[in-house]
Amino acid sequence: MGGSGFGTIFTVTTFGESHGPALGCVIDGCPAGVPFSEEDIRRELSRRRPGGGGPATTRSEPDEPEILSGVFEGKTLGTPIAIMVRNTAQRPGDYDSLKDVYRPGHADWVWEAKYGFRDHRGGGRSSGRETLGRVAAGAAAKAFLSGFGITVRAWTSAVAGIDSPGPGESGFDLDEAERNPLRVPHRETAERILKVIEKLRAEGDSAGGIVSCSAAGLPPGLGDPVFGKLDARLAAAVLSIGAAKAVSFGAGFAAASSRGSLQNDRPVLKNGIAGDGGASCPLPPGVPDLEYETNNAGGVLGGISTGMPLEFTVAFKPIASISRHQETADREGNVRDLAIQGRHDVCVCPRAVPVVEAMTALVLADLLLLNRSGRT
Ligand SMILES: Cc1cc2nc3c(=O)[nH]c(=O)nc-3n(C[C@H](O)[C@H](O)[C@H](O)COP(=O)(O)O)c2cc1C
Repeated sequence: MGGSGFGTIFTVTTFGESHGPALGCVIDGCPAGVPFSEEDIRRELSRRRPGGGGPATTRSEPDEPEILSGVFEGKTLGTPIAIMVRNTAQRPGDYDSLKDVYRPGHADWVWEAKYGFRDHRGGGRSSGRETLGRVAAGAAAKAFLSGFGITVRAWTSAVAGIDSPGPGESGFDLDEAERNPLRVPHRETAERILKVIEKLRAEGDSAGGIVSCSAAGLPPGLGDPVFGKLDARLAAAVLSIGAAKAVSFGAGFAAASSRGSLQNDRPVLKNGIAGDGGASCPLPPGVPDLEYETNNAGGVLGGISTGMPLEFTVAFKPIASISRHQETADREGNVRDLAIQGRHDVCVCPRAVPVVEAMTALVLADLLLLNRSGRT
C-alpha cells in the first residue's frame, strides 16, 4: 500500500495492522546527536493508550517500544531509526462478525472498493492503533525540536458539544489535562463530559469532539509561501488522522464573520533590528524583530510562521463502531442488522491528543530542516 510515508527531509513510514504481530515506524532524516531513548517513546505511547474507564476502549496493552536501529548510547546516529511495538492483546475473533459486512461510518467498504480485499480484524490499518507508529515517530521529532526550545501541547477542548475553558479563560489548566482521562484542561468540565460519555456508552453510542493544539518557541520563517505553506502542511498532517474531519487556524471559521479592523494582528517592535545586535532571533540583517499584539492568525501568515504561538483546532467525528443496532449492507448486498462488538472508544479526542502533537512535531521538524535551504 502506498501513502504510508510522510515528510520531505525528516521522514517517517509507519507499518502494521491492528491485529498483526507488530506496528511501528521507520524515521529517516533525523539529524545525529539528538538525545533520544525508549523512555521518550514510552512516555508518549502511554498518553496514546486507553486510560481505563472514561471515553476509552477497553483494549489495553503495554505498548512496549523497541528501538531496532539508529540510536546509540542515548543519541540518534543520523541513520534510519526503526521502532517496533508488538501487539499483545489481539482478539481477532471479536471481529469475525464483521468479515462480510461493512460498518457504517468506517473504511471497510472503501478498502474493498480500492483493493479488492481487506484485513477486517479491528479495521486492519484503518484502526486507531495505526497511530502508534506516528506517536513513536513524533517522540523523535519532539526530541529534535526541544533542542530549539520548541514545544507542542494539545488538549481536548470540547466533547459532545460541551466546551472547556480555553487559554486565557478562567480555570484553564494544561496540567489538569494530563490528569483526567479526557485530557480536558478544566476539571469541572471534564467531570460533566464524563457523565455524558458514560450515558452514551450505556446507550451503545459515541461522541465527537475537538482537539486544540499550540506550539511555542517557533522562530519566524518556517513554511514555504506557495504549496508548502505551514498551515497547508499541518492541515494535511492532522487530517490524515482517522476520524479527523476539519481543521482551523487561529480565529478560524469565526474570521469569516469578522472585519479586517478587528481581525488584523498589529505588529510591534520586540527586540530591535537584526544586524544591529538587538534582535534575539536569527533574522536576516536589516529585518526588524517584530511580534504581534494579538494572534488571530494563529501564528501563521502567508504560509510562514510569525514567531507567535502556532494555534489550531481539529474536529473529530463520533467513533463509527457503536454497539447500538444499525442497518448496513453485506457483501451480497443484503440489508443487515449490525450491533458492533469488540473494544472501541466512545470519543476519540483524548487518544487523538498525542497523535495531533506527534503530527505537528513531525511537520515542524521537517520544516526546521527545510528552512536551512531558504536563504544564503
Ligand atoms: C487514536 C484513535 C482511536 C480510534 N479508535 C477507534 C475505535 O475504537 N473504533 C472506531 O470505529 N474508530 C476508531 N477510530 C477512528 C477510525 O480510525 C476512523 O474513523 C476510520 O479509519 C475511518 O476513517 P475516517 O473516519 O477518517 O473517514 C480511532 C481513531 C484514532 C485516531
